[in-house]
Amino acid sequence: MHSSPKFGRPPTVAEFVGAFAASHAPLIARDWDRFPDALRARITASYASVGERIAAARPDILIEVAPDHWTNFFIDNLPSVCIGVGAVHEGPREPFMTAFPHRTLRGDTAFGTHLLSTALARGFEPSVSHQLCLDHGFCLPLWKMNLDPLPAIVPLILNDLEPPMPSIARCAAWGTLLAEAIASYPGDARIAILASGGLSHSIGEPTMGVIDAEFDRNCIAAFERSDTGALVGFLDAALPHVGNGAHEVRNWVVAHAAAGGHGFALLDYYAVPEVYVGCAWAAWDGGVR
Ligand SMILES: [Fe+2]
Repeated sequence: MHSSPKFGRPPTVAEFVGAFAASHAPLIARDWDRFPDALRARITASYASVGERIAAARPDILIEVAPDHWTNFFIDNLPSVCIGVGAVHEGPREPFMTAFPHRTLRGDTAFGTHLLSTALARGFEPSVSHQLCLDHGFCLPLWKMNLDPLPAIVPLILNDLEPPMPSIARCAAWGTLLAEAIASYPGDARIAILASGGLSHSIGEPTMGVIDAEFDRNCIAAFERSDTGALVGFLDAALPHVGNGAHEVRNWVVAHAAAGGHGFALLDYYAVPEVYVGCAWAAWDGGVR
């Protein structure tokens, strides 16, 4: 019989081994060689701080929550949420990502399909793709974290780019759903979540380049307080005013809620005007066993 939450809970052997978050920016790749040595060293250390924790969690599968920067989708077809169930994903096409060491990334059709089935059984109707190209939002953090070997990547694309977007409360509900899908997965797998994006930045609008460090610090504090209701209220009120790129923090909300809303531990934060982004790195590895 097909395994589905509808037909009872199968023996559970999958483990949720951690939730992580990191910013991304195209210019981290494009302008890397132009950065001062100290900035390169600090960014390297920040990504390493997350990468080492992911490596220690030893995930077989990494659910990566990220936006699609008009690589797979455009306004003619723009899903609010899309699950990538392909066995293989295409690597990034952006010219500034040509040195990324993977032209393809392994997916996990079995878990991706289980996640889709779990979502549908719970009244969520995401889009599904069997053939995705993963852009810098997915691949830059993986690259800078030096994950080797890469776990299988199950992409969860959120529309963080074009209004109207999924509500913050719905993103939290997606996180709860991810945790349920992991807990009900009958495969023998260690599964982690990585959110990619944020914090404040402004791209292609009159405030281009503005970084709101006060928002960023308040945002981090809201995550650390482990109060999902307060986090949702804070972001609902603040996000319209802190640059279009800040909407990517939705991905953090998904990962945070998947971890039970227990709160990310901040690993590093600093505004990086060279890449136009308030950059932050965080981890919740309470699930690691
Ligand atoms: Fe982005």
